[in-house]
Amino acid sequence: MNTVEIIKRKRNGEKLTKDELKFLIDGYLKGKVADYQITSFLMAVYFRGMDDEETLNLTELMLHSGDIINLDHIKGVKVDKHSTGGVGDKTSLILAPQLASLGVYVPMISGRGLGHTGGTLDKLESIPGFRINMSEEEYKSTLGKIGCVMIGQTERLAPADKRFYALRDVTATVDSIPLIASSILSKKLAEGAEALVFDVKMGSGANLQDERESEKLARKLVSVSRKFGKKAVAVLTDMKEPLGFNIGNWLEVEECIEVMNGRKIDDLLKVNNVLAGAMLWLAGKAKDIPEGEVIAEQALDNGTVYAKFLEMVQAHDGSVSYIKDYKNKKRPAYSRKIISDKDGYVNGLDAFGFGVASVMLGAGRKKAEDRVSPLSGIILNKKCGDKILKGESVCELFADDDSKISDALPYTEKAIRIDTKPDFEKKLIIDIID
Ligand code: URA
Repeated sequence: MNTVEIIKRKRNGEKLTKDELKFLIDGYLKGKVADYQITSFLMAVYFRGMDDEETLNLTELMLHSGDIINLDHIKGVKVDKHSTGGVGDKTSLILAPQLASLGVYVPMISGRGLGHTGGTLDKLESIPGFRINMSEEEYKSTLGKIGCVMIGQTERLAPADKRFYALRDVTATVDSIPLIASSILSKKLAEGAEALVFDVKMGSGANLQDERESEKLARKLVSVSRKFGKKAVAVLTDMKEPLGFNIGNWLEVEECIEVMNGRKIDDLLKVNNVLAGAMLWLAGKAKDIPEGEVIAEQALDNGTVYAKFLEMVQAHDGSVSYIKDYKNKKRPAYSRKIISDKDGYVNGLDAFGFGVASVMLGAGRKKAEDRVSPLSGIILNKKCGDKILKGESVCELFADDDSKISDALPYTEKAIRIDTKPDFEKKLIIDIID
């Protein structure tokens, strides 16, 4: 087989065989196929797509590019959730300790920022010392002890996805159903969970801009999971405006700590608790998703979730004192507020625009080798539907370099829509596919 011929076949819209896909993936992991060839392959898939059989084969090959963890020794149900990617999308940080505090094991293998969307690993690493790399043994023992664990892919866990993902992030090849489905599922099927909840984002800040495509992705994630013997639910959630108020790595961790300490943020809590409800239902701890949502809500109110979060941070060598000091706001050197020049209503905070702006500020990567800035990002002072007065702040931008604020400013300004009359309808949970 010949790498160039395989790329050419996909470029021309032909269907690739499992052997051809295996040749590419194995060759890449062994250093026989170059980054630029895989990038071309990814771009060809982006334009030409893959049918169900190819997507299933790609998923299976990416899954088997590494080990599949067996968690049978842990007695209890193991459930995880994965998002297709959003802006201000921070629920993993709450859900893992929340479910663990309710007796459900959450083995979580997460990703870094991807395109304009944030990544759980980058957020966790904004906690000084937090280690996202663990051996399989440590991963299992931490899960058994704490009830949750959040790591990145090691060289032995879906390594093909880890390498593809880094290329997709910076080559405009994120928004493709077969690439997203195989990426998510190869990680999730490797981690040992028995049931999966997918948060499939819809709207401008989602990885797929077309709503019908998001729905197709949701159905694909559920059906492929079932083919691999997993119970699965997909929740289609809104991503027209960023979730919650904070966008950026530490800023999002800080907001989650506040929520775990009683702060009420309507949209974040609604999406979080519906996902938690679905996880509890799949775990057999609730008779349906609405009952699970109520149980999840109560857990957040009684302080046990925060205690579990601190336990998890400690197990990952993260600084617990840094977390406990969250009221002492940690901000980078430069900031700028965007002030409304009129009275009116906030009718649009375009999530895609805010996502791009946060990457410009340093919260995400423009090149694969970029380091993200832990403290950079954006805090919204208003949400869609809010009234605003002339002179009030819509949001504040943070960066460790003033030129980054200047770069991000036009994207942010363009993302804000203020009109004299209210014109915004919120629908956070669009559909549930179970
Ligand atoms: N999350 C992933 O892990 N992969 C994607 O492609 C998108 C979201």
